[in-house]
Amino acid sequence: MPVGNSKQSWGTLSIALHWLVALCVFGLFGLGFWMTGLDYYHAWYKQGPDLHKSIGIMLFLLLLFRLAWRLFNGHPDPLPTHTEWEKRLAHAVHLLLYLLLFAIMTSGYFISTADGRAIPVFDWFALPAYPLGIEQQEEIAGTIHWYLALTLMSLVGLHAVGALKHHFIDKDETLKRMFYAQKTN
Ligand code: HEM
Ligand code: HEM
Repeated sequence: MPVGNSKQSWGTLSIALHWLVALCVFGLFGLGFWMTGLDYYHAWYKQGPDLHKSIGIMLFLLLLFRLAWRLFNGHPDPLPTHTEWEKRLAHAVHLLLYLLLFAIMTSGYFISTADGRAIPVFDWFALPAYPLGIEQQEEIAGTIHWYLALTLMSLVGLHAVGALKHHFIDKDETLKRMFYAQKTN
């Protein structure tokens, strides 16, 4: 199975990265939502946010790698079944998904570092704080983080509906080629 992308097909690395990122994003949304409702005496009151932040920062590194791979490796051409408006909409949605992901991570970083402390990542390393000195930084960044996360999930919904439309209505290869890398010569 080809690791790299071709003009017809996504390679196994891009496919694995797409689904790994999707899994992390759904997980972070669920964990973030759940952990903010916990009371002080719950066993996960501190563990939840620690895990959320550690996964979030590793996801940031993963996204940088994914973008670099896409840049150097290229991506498949749209299928002949894709209409002009679909191509434009899909392109805009993909771009927005990347931008929103980076904006959510940045706002998360500014919630967590509002008290001037570094963020420990799985006891592997600590990401230093960058003091902005904004009053109520934690609350402001927290509100932005929440609304960005909601916007992201809505856009992911649209993205998934688009993929399902290609699969069930247009009956083309769009969704299938995000699961199987095809051999091309
Ligand atoms: C794709 C990535 C991420 C998603 C989808 C996400 C999603 C969420 C959600 C849904 C909440 C609950 C918000 C609320 O109920 O007010 C939350 C809270 C939080 N997130 Fe994230 N998050 C992401 C990345 C990050 C990163 C990278 C960090 C820090 C480095 C971070 C730090 C936090 C913190 C500290 C909270 C608690 C905020 C509070 O107590 O109000 N998040 N996140
Ligand atoms: C958090 C969840 C998700 C994110 C952030 C996401 C993000 C993306 C991005 C950025 C691309 C463009 C690939 C690139 O240029 O690197 C893409 C492609 C794709 N995604 Fe997702 N995705 C998510 C979930 C899903 C789900 C749930 C489905 C299916 C139901 C799906 C199906 C697809 C398909 C089929 C493509 C390929 C489109 C094409 O070849 O033109 N994605 N995704």
